[in-house]
Amino acid sequence: MRIDVLSIFPDYLAPLELSLPGKARAKGLLELAVHDLRQWTTDKHHTTDDTPYGGGAGMVMKPEPFGAAFDDLGIDGATVIFTTPSGAPFNQEMARELATHDRLVFACGRYEGIDQRVIDHAASRADVREISIGDYVLNGGEVAALAITEAVVRLLPGFMGNPDSLVEESHEDGLLEYPVFTKPAEWRGLDVPPVLLSGNHKAIAQWRHDQAVRRTADRRPDLLHGSAVVGIGDLSDLE
Ligand code: ADE
Repeated sequence: MRIDVLSIFPDYLAPLELSLPGKARAKGLLELAVHDLRQWTTDKHHTTDDTPYGGGAGMVMKPEPFGAAFDDLGIDGATVIFTTPSGAPFNQEMARELATHDRLVFACGRYEGIDQRVIDHAASRADVREISIGDYVLNGGEVAALAITEAVVRLLPGFMGNPDSLVEESHEDGLLEYPVFTKPAEWRGLDVPPVLLSGNHKAIAQWRHDQAVRRTADRRPDLLHGSAVVGIGDLSDLE
């Protein structure tokens, strides 16, 4: 996969050099480049924003630097992701789908957003997605691009040393993950649930499933009814 990120604060994306995406690059699974959008400005102040037509508060990102960047990077046929609080909500299913794409280009907005024509123009050349990482407003799309990149890159085939760890984690089966424990068996007066020490794999699997359902019902009831792995019995057991 190749990922390009366009931002007026490229330093924000420095963590992409580290940790997970860094490991994917080292393994040859990922090519990644972060670009300062200001390199595509033409005035001496490197202006990337202007006042909104129609009036109102705040500034809007100008179309020209994005257009020049899209031309130079060659976005044609790529998937261009605009990170915005007005986008579709990001989730694990979307991460899985994006992990199948060859080329992602993130356009990170700041201020009140990006001139709509940038998105419309990109859509005439590329597969465009507008994605939000949650119902809150960040100062810009950089943190969202980081979060999406990390969620996608760890799903690239060959990235995980042990792909089994992907199967059991939160959201993969539509449930939140069950609680986990490690040694010692007793710590500060708190015991590991005895079933986990029993060696009875069937009982352990049943306990974990029950815990996942219980936790999901408690914290994210909205997820439960869409989950294929929750039987009617599971839900009635919660009463
Ligand atoms: N930019 C600002 N807030 C955002 C959010 N919640 N998701 C994605 N991009 C954003």
